[in-house]
Amino acid sequence: MIAILGAGKMGEALTSGLLRSGVVGPGEIVAAVRRPERAKQLRDGYGVDVTTAAQAAERAQTLVISVKPQDMSALLAEIGPVVTPAKLVISVAAGITTAFIGDQLGGAVPVVRVMSNTPVLVDEAMSVISPGRHSTEQHLRRAEELLQPVGKVLRIPEALQDAATALSGSGPAYVYFLVETMVDAGILLGMPRNDALEMVKQAVYGAAKMLRDSGEHPVLLREAVTSPGGTTISAIRELERHGVRAAVLSAIEAARDRGRELGSG
Ligand SMILES: NC(=O)c1ccc[n+]([C@@H]2O[C@H](COP(=O)([O-])OP(=O)(O)OC[C@H]3O[C@@H](n4cnc5c(N)ncnc54)[C@H](OP(=O)(O)O)[C@@H]3O)[C@@H](O)[C@H]2O)c1
Repeated sequence: MIAILGAGKMGEALTSGLLRSGVVGPGEIVAAVRRPERAKQLRDGYGVDVTTAAQAAERAQTLVISVKPQDMSALLAEIGPVVTPAKLVISVAAGITTAFIGDQLGGAVPVVRVMSNTPVLVDEAMSVISPGRHSTEQHLRRAEELLQPVGKVLRIPEALQDAATALSGSGPAYVYFLVETMVDAGILLGMPRNDALEMVKQAVYGAAKMLRDSGEHPVLLREAVTSPGGTTISAIRELERHGVRAAVLSAIEAARDRGRELGSG
């Protein structure tokens, strides 16, 4: 039995992915939320049982914690009395360390930390997982099994979680920012807004698909559309002149630093 403790946006995306993939049936998931109307929505929508966090944590062996970071302490206090080292805790809360969760729960409870991103909603998440002090290979495999239905999973040391948050947690936002900027460029060149958006969306989608499916290095893919004396190289010269590469490096470093700051309270 799997408990989804905090079945909001992220918890629901996981629940729906698990059920669609057939990894588990509705009878093997118990969810927990606070509001009765939200509980009814989940029961009606997925056929899963919905109860309090303490009851769900008591019944399940795998506990997925998906509450907001600010609600974490209250939730851990609520479930602490029923969580034993025989259970596995998987936390998707941004910035909360496995040590914090372990200390609040007490004992040698195995904890796996996950950083996912919003494409979880279309089963294309990047989930980056790290083991806590008491988690074993078997615990990591269990986390992978639950996250694979909603996207890709990668293991990294917990010390790199803030960097992963900056790169892949916020990653989709940088892409949307680039899309917005390219659409503005289309408008500058006299293109109708909707046409510009259609073109940019398809360019991003096509490029992402080639990047993933061809297995080619991004430099080679870029070189393939950069002919000598051509249009693309004129654009690249401007990007370099305006320091776009350096700006991206600094931006992602700033996101990593902000993550560290928030994580340390
Ligand atoms: N959304 C994403 O794409 C995304 C991506 C990466 C990471 N995350 C992480 O996922 C976590 C959840 O984010 P979210 O966007 O899914 O938030 P959300 O939609 O607000 O969901 C949080 C859920 O937790 C429930 N909850 C809070 N305290 C509870 C308690 N004591 N007992 C039972 N249920 C409780 C809330 O119940 P009620 O609805 O009844 O209030 C709500 O359904 C965050 O830690 C965030 O860092 C989210």
